[in-house]
Amino acid sequence: MHYRIILLIISWLAFLPGYGQDKPELLPELLVSKDGKTIRTSNDWTNVRRPELLRLFEDNIYGQLPQDFDSIRFELERQGQKAMRGKAMLKEVDIIVYRRGQSVRIGLVLFVPANTSKPSPVFLLINHREKDNTDPSREIKRAFWPAEEVIDRGYAVAAFQVGDLAADNPKTYDQQVLRLYPEQLKQDNGMKAIGAWAWGASRVMDYFETDKDLNATQVAVVGHSRGGKAALWCGAQDERFAITISNDSGCTGAALSRRKVGETISDVNTKFPHWFCTKYNQFNSKEEDLPVDQHMLLALIAPRAVYVASASKDTWADPKGEFLSMKYAEPAFQLFDLAPLPIEEQPPVNTPVSSVHLGYHMREGGHGLELYDWKQYMNFADTYFPSISSDHYINK
Ligand code: GCU
Repeated sequence: MHYRIILLIISWLAFLPGYGQDKPELLPELLVSKDGKTIRTSNDWTNVRRPELLRLFEDNIYGQLPQDFDSIRFELERQGQKAMRGKAMLKEVDIIVYRRGQSVRIGLVLFVPANTSKPSPVFLLINHREKDNTDPSREIKRAFWPAEEVIDRGYAVAAFQVGDLAADNPKTYDQQVLRLYPEQLKQDNGMKAIGAWAWGASRVMDYFETDKDLNATQVAVVGHSRGGKAALWCGAQDERFAITISNDSGCTGAALSRRKVGETISDVNTKFPHWFCTKYNQFNSKEEDLPVDQHMLLALIAPRAVYVASASKDTWADPKGEFLSMKYAEPAFQLFDLAPLPIEEQPPVNTPVSSVHLGYHMREGGHGLELYDWKQYMNFADTYFPSISSDHYINK
């Protein structure tokens, strides 16, 4: 009798949101193209499946990322001012992009290690929090952007404010980049704020490619939470970024939508109508109708590197869904002979795991970007960057 009741409870639990959806067969097929062809080679991935998936994310979730503009100008507000007791040089750069008589200005804060003659690898933070998190004077220091620690590890460290691209506000998000691309506002798959932030990171990369102090083939883009959603979209489409880092990005970031654990598509679209394209609303409470899920976004980063981090108490972001997303993205990396994560189950707290191209950890504690997270990202980069000097790295 007891045994039957237990069985009944177990089968009932399987139908609750959050259970049962772990199974990959409930996700859209990563390695089957729209016309039913099985993707077996890296060539087919690159030429068939990747473009098709990018299009699906663009049309249904993040909106288009227009790359046409008339010109771009870099104004060095401050060139090579000594900082951090001589360990770094501070550069503040205005990146100004022009299109059809309109312009947008992105303010970049950049510290470069001073005591090296080699171009430095860089960590770029998409900052959606207050500007003082990335204080160029270093009077204010926050773990959210631990510039001194990053410099001490031999990396350059940079940041820009999302508000320069699109205000994080449903009423005013269209006043910066979207003035350059007003046609986007009229389309179901037009970009909104998250797309604009990702677009901004690509314009910063345009600058990095011109700065002789930097190694633009070794750039990691980092975003926390809503910034992590933008970092993933940026890393998925712009192949110049060597490492993409998602910190607690949750719903429509790293977490699988079909699990419906923590924040759902309907939650995010209702509270933040200015983040994703209009079409995405069609999937409110209809996750199963989406032609993609978020593991496919991580897969789009192959064969470059991706690191996903969760925090144990950040249930809103569904840590397990973030981990599973990584696992289900692995087949795309394996097409390039790149090793999967060396574990099958989500690791315990504070136990980072990585192969060369994939990294994951779950920090103990709540939602946030902390020094612990940054240390893991730098450890990962320490291994990854030397590995990509070899020719399997695809940098277009
Ligand atoms: C809210 C939102 C999340 C987002 C987070 C953040 O919690 O629901 O989707 O990631 O804010 O940006 O901190």
